[in-house]
Amino acid sequence: MKARTPLYIQILLTFGLVWFAFEMFAPDSGYFSNILFWLSQIIGLLVTLIVKSVGDLTEIKYFKSLSEEDKKAYVALQKMPFFKRLWDSAVKKQSVKEENAIIIDHGFDGITELDNSLPKWWLGLFYFGCIYCVIYMFAYAFSDFAHQEKEYTKEYTSQLASIEEYEKTAPKITLETAKYSAEDAKEGEELFKSNCVSCHGDGGKGGIGPNLTDQNWINHEEKSVFKNVYWMLENGSPNNPAMRAFIKDGTISPRDAEKISSYVYHINQEVAPITVKEGGAAPQGDPVKWEE
Ligand code: HEC
Repeated sequence: MKARTPLYIQILLTFGLVWFAFEMFAPDSGYFSNILFWLSQIIGLLVTLIVKSVGDLTEIKYFKSLSEEDKKAYVALQKMPFFKRLWDSAVKKQSVKEENAIIIDHGFDGITELDNSLPKWWLGLFYFGCIYCVIYMFAYAFSDFAHQEKEYTKEYTSQLASIEEYEKTAPKITLETAKYSAEDAKEGEELFKSNCVSCHGDGGKGGIGPNLTDQNWINHEEKSVFKNVYWMLENGSPNNPAMRAFIKDGTISPRDAEKISSYVYHINQEVAPITVKEGGAAPQGDPVKWEE
């Protein structure tokens, strides 16, 4: 008879399996504080204890039938620590005598075959795999576990909710509160490339839309370049519908408009203008002296 798995390992395994099943069938349900979870654990524990007692009875009966020598060997094996036994069963080589006992009575060309029993770790993995497979199939069929689409929808919804939460608390950006920052100007460059370059040219040098690097402006609704650009993004051009009201029509968010306005401020106020000689569009509108 094989040495038996100690009770504490069996209890740990049962606990793990029940936990695993809850994780698959009721993830995120806060099952740790749910009475059902602990009831299932207690039932699992009771079943383990019953199986253990039945095992004990068979063991006693079997033990009595052994010869003195075998009894000693069995007791010695039982005393060996579980993990050492497991390790030995994985790596121990048989002696020639043991091999002779399990050699199979057929061979070819001098090659013979041994009727080895499978190593414990292999059997353990195999049984674990089988149990996992059954639980997985049920979980897949009857719960939301492992459904990519459902997991995606769940995550997506929770992300949307957290964005909404953030926007509730984040300060609202408006024409009054928007302000320039050098960091925004850097991020604004990318946004300018994807939203504005088609009309205002690389670096704002002008094209269909006016050159944004020079000091002439068709529209001057505000006192600073930064606010003026923000105003244009919010309201669009009063003269030319090509320059749309990007914020109002929902193309860009107020926060992105703040970044883009910072970038346009940068190319207009902090670096040299792109002149006609350098491929820029000719100035349009009136020269403006900004107040801020
Ligand atoms: C479809 C082409 C087009 C796109 C895209 C566009 N604009 Fe314009 N924009 C124009 C035109 C045309 C004008 C001139 C409007 C006028 O005559 O009043 C203009 C004017 C402006 C002005 C005022 C310039 C002045 O001299 O009065 C600013 C600032 C501006 N755009 C910024 C932007 C920014 C920032 C973006 C990107 C979010 C953008 N535009 C995207 C075509 C466009």
